[in-house]
Amino acid sequence: MRIGFGCDHAAAELKEELLHYMEEKGHECVDYGISPGEKADYPVQGRKVAEAITAGEVEKGVLICGTGVGISLAANKVPGIRAAVCSEPYTARLSVQHNNANIIAMGARVVGPELAKMILDEFFGARFEGGRHAARVDLIRDIEEHYTGKKPEL
Ligand code: RB5
Repeated sequence: MRIGFGCDHAAAELKEELLHYMEEKGHECVDYGISPGEKADYPVQGRKVAEAITAGEVEKGVLICGTGVGISLAANKVPGIRAAVCSEPYTARLSVQHNNANIIAMGARVVGPELAKMILDEFFGARFEGGRHAARVDLIRDIEEHYTGKKPEL
């Protein structure tokens, strides 16, 4: 899978480690920054990866900031994006199976690298179950349509 990675300065080291981990697993990873030593605001980074998904540049995204909260809030403002903040593997799996999440967000100050890898394994190993869950995700898309005038494709 083609995966976009983004982070702010609180999470650059963890982003690097996770990007290499996913590359070793055979995924094609696109780095939207930042590198260790650089600084960036989490809304800028969340938006970058979210828009890369809606533009079809990448299929899914991994976003990391200090807590995972700010960067996921920003990403979720982009219509069609469902970013789930997870600090354990169970929620990561269910966020795909039930919510069809297209971004996993984590906090570098919350999870360590090994737990973060387990979370990624669950997220990227899961498949959306559709059925009754599709109807609910569609209700989320209805909210986006109400406020933007357009139903998102994703
Ligand atoms: C940056 O210090 C921190 O506020 C940010 O990484 C994040 O935790 C915000 O949600």
